Amino acid sequence: MNSFGVVFRLTLFGESHGPAIGVIIDGCPPGLAIKPEDFVADLKRRQSGGVGTTKRQEPDLPEILSGVFDGVTTGAPVSLITRNSDKISSDYDEFKNIPRPGHADFVSRIKHSGFADMRGSGHFSGRITWGLVAAGVVAKKIAGTSEMNAKLISAGGSEDIEKAINEAIALNDTIGGIIECRVKKPPKAIGEPFFYSFESALSHIIFSIPAIKGIEFGSGFAAASMRGSENNDPFVDSLGRTASNNAGGINGGITNGNEIVFRIVVKPTSSTGVDQTTFNFKEGKMATLIVKGRHDTCIALRMPVIVEAATAIVMADLILIDRGIHGERSGPLPLRGIPLKGE
Ligand SMILES: Cc1cc2nc3c(=O)[nH]c(=O)nc-3n(C[C@H](O)[C@H](O)[C@H](O)COP(=O)(O)O)c2cc1C
Repeated sequence: MNSFGVVFRLTLFGESHGPAIGVIIDGCPPGLAIKPEDFVADLKRRQSGGVGTTKRQEPDLPEILSGVFDGVTTGAPVSLITRNSDKISSDYDEFKNIPRPGHADFVSRIKHSGFADMRGSGHFSGRITWGLVAAGVVAKKIAGTSEMNAKLISAGGSEDIEKAINEAIALNDTIGGIIECRVKKPPKAIGEPFFYSFESALSHIIFSIPAIKGIEFGSGFAAASMRGSENNDPFVDSLGRTASNNAGGINGGITNGNEIVFRIVVKPTSSTGVDQTTFNFKEGKMATLIVKGRHDTCIALRMPVIVEAATAIVMADLILIDRGIHGERSGPLPLRGIPLKGE
């Protein structure tokens, strides 16, 4: 299923080596100013090109196909695409019969009865996250004054990220990493328990991003070995500000107004240059696979902007849901109070 969100609802489409990839955003409020240049900075942050990323070079330029007229959203679905241009599909021919351990080749063979487009890993490619980042740019406009900042805090178990990447490259192997995301000045009281609490909605979209294997909020896993008196965050004023932030800005699945803090785990890229044992379905016997082609040594390097986008998308959706249920009480949104066109 490729759609996410209740009000601010997006659908991702495309394959890595198809003509284009993109996103359709339904439920985008009218009157938001959007121009193609708005997408450039975030889309650039997701691009490859740096040490430890794939040699595949895509321009990633956005084309707005619908939902924007005269530089503002119209209320109709916003659709955005980018064309795929740098494709070497033959690199992926053998994975249909000789699946890469750790990748989606084996499961998609069963799930899609062998019909899946395997070129560039098809719809399982990290390239599909282009649409998430593009939707994130629109969502950030709805999330208003919230300041989102995700960064890679360790790779391959080390805080010396550059060294860890260079060591992995020298070994022809791959590594993962941990990304921390902080949202300063978040809106208070968004999140819809039970099933669309802030943590559950965010975890849902975060785990939809390929290669993410864990998430923790605030003190996270460390909370298991803390006492309640240590883990609770004492209030310091009537606004609900707290002296510590072990809750990561969320209580009861609802934002409490303090900084939102969470960390995610990105696994090592499964397409490693080291020999791996697999099964050759064509020949019906075990095989050794050496993955060739172009791959990210460390996917986590390209992930921070994707995590920010996912966070913005959830926040936009929860803000709009809160508006629908509770009206204006949580303060003005940038998109409220706009005059009718022409007035
Ligand atoms: C931005 C990004 C880039 C990625 N690049 C690669 C890559 O070069 N090689 C690879 O094997 N996997 C890559 N992946 C991860 C695969 O898409 C992912 O591991 C695969 O779909 C299997 O899903 P899973 O890891 O969640 O089980 C990338 C993921 C993202 C988000």
